[in-house]
Amino acid sequence: MHALRGKVAAVTGAASGLGRAMALAFADEGMDLALADVEGLQEVVAAVEAKGVKATAMKVDVSKAQEVEAFAAAAGKVHLVCNNAGVSTLGAAWECSVADWQWILGVNVWGVIHGVRAFAPRLIAQNEGHLVNTASVAGLISPPGSAAYNVTKHAVVALSETLYHDLRERGSAVGVSVLCPAYVPTRISESERNRPKELAAGEKSSATLAKQAMLKKAVASGRLSAGDIARAVVSAVKENRFYILTHPRIKGAIRARMEDILEERAPRDPLRL
Ligand SMILES: NC(=O)c1ccc[n+]([C@@H]2O[C@H](COP(=O)([O-])OP(=O)(O)OC[C@H]3O[C@@H](n4cnc5c(N)ncnc54)[C@H](O)[C@@H]3O)[C@@H](O)[C@H]2O)c1
Repeated sequence: MHALRGKVAAVTGAASGLGRAMALAFADEGMDLALADVEGLQEVVAAVEAKGVKATAMKVDVSKAQEVEAFAAAAGKVHLVCNNAGVSTLGAAWECSVADWQWILGVNVWGVIHGVRAFAPRLIAQNEGHLVNTASVAGLISPPGSAAYNVTKHAVVALSETLYHDLRERGSAVGVSVLCPAYVPTRISESERNRPKELAAGEKSSATLAKQAMLKKAVASGRLSAGDIARAVVSAVKENRFYILTHPRIKGAIRARMEDILEERAPRDPLRL
C-alpha cells in the first residue's frame, strides 16, 4: 500500500510499546486510527490526535473472538491491520504451567487468529489493505528458556506465511507482513500486569527467575527504539515487503537454524553462536 494518508489503521496492543509507537508512526503518515487494548488508551489517543488525525479506542481482549469481531465491526472501513498485542512468560518446556500455556497461546496466537478472521475478509472484500502480524525473532529461532513464547511466535510466522500464500492464490491485492524484532525497550518484561486472575502464574524455578532478570536487562538495553521499529513497519507496508527483520545481526542465528535443518544436525543454541 503506497499511499497511507487519509486511510485507517487498526492496531491491537496499542496502549504501550510497539503498538503505541505504530499508532504514532501511522498518525505521522496522516492515517486515522482504531486502537484496541486491555489497558487504558487515553494517553495514546491524545498523542495521535495531537498530530491532527482521528482516533477511536476500544477495550478489547484479543484472546476473545467476540471482542475482536466487535472491534473490527466498530472500526468500520480499515486499510491497515496490526495484530500486535502480545505477552511473554518464560520457562523450560516442561516447566511452563498449563495456565502459562493457555494465557500466552490465547493472546499471542489466538489473538492473531481472531484478528485475521475478523479483518481479512473485510480487506479482501474491498480488495485493498495490508495486515501486519507481530511475531519476533523467537518465531525464526528457538532460544532456550522460553518454550511457550517461541511456540507462539513460530505459530504467528507460519500463520502469516500461509495467509500470504492464500491471498496470492486467490488473486487478492491485500498484502501481508510479519514483524520479527529482537529486543526493543518496551513493557514486554512486565507482561504479568495483564495476566487474568484465573490463569495466575505458578512458582517459577530459580533458573527461570535468572532468565527473567537477563531478559529484562536485554529488553531494556535494546538499541533500536519502538519508534524505529514502527518506522520500519511503515516502510515495509509501503514497499509491500513480507518479512520485517529489524535486527540484521540476528540473521546469523537464523541461517544456522536453517543449515542445521537442511544438514539434519541437532540444533545449535542460537544464544551461543
Ligand atoms: N519488546 C520486545 O523486545 C519484542 C521483541 C519481539 C516481539 N515483540 C512483540 O511485540 C508485541 C508488542 O509487545 P511490546 O514489546 O510492545 O510490549 P508491551 O507490554 O509494551 O505492549 C504490549 C501491549 O499488549 C497489550 N495486551 C496484553 N494482553 C492483551 C490482550 N489480551 N488483549 C489486548 N491487548 C493486550 C498490553 O496491554 C500492552 O499495551 C508483542 O506481540 C511482543 O511479543 C516484542
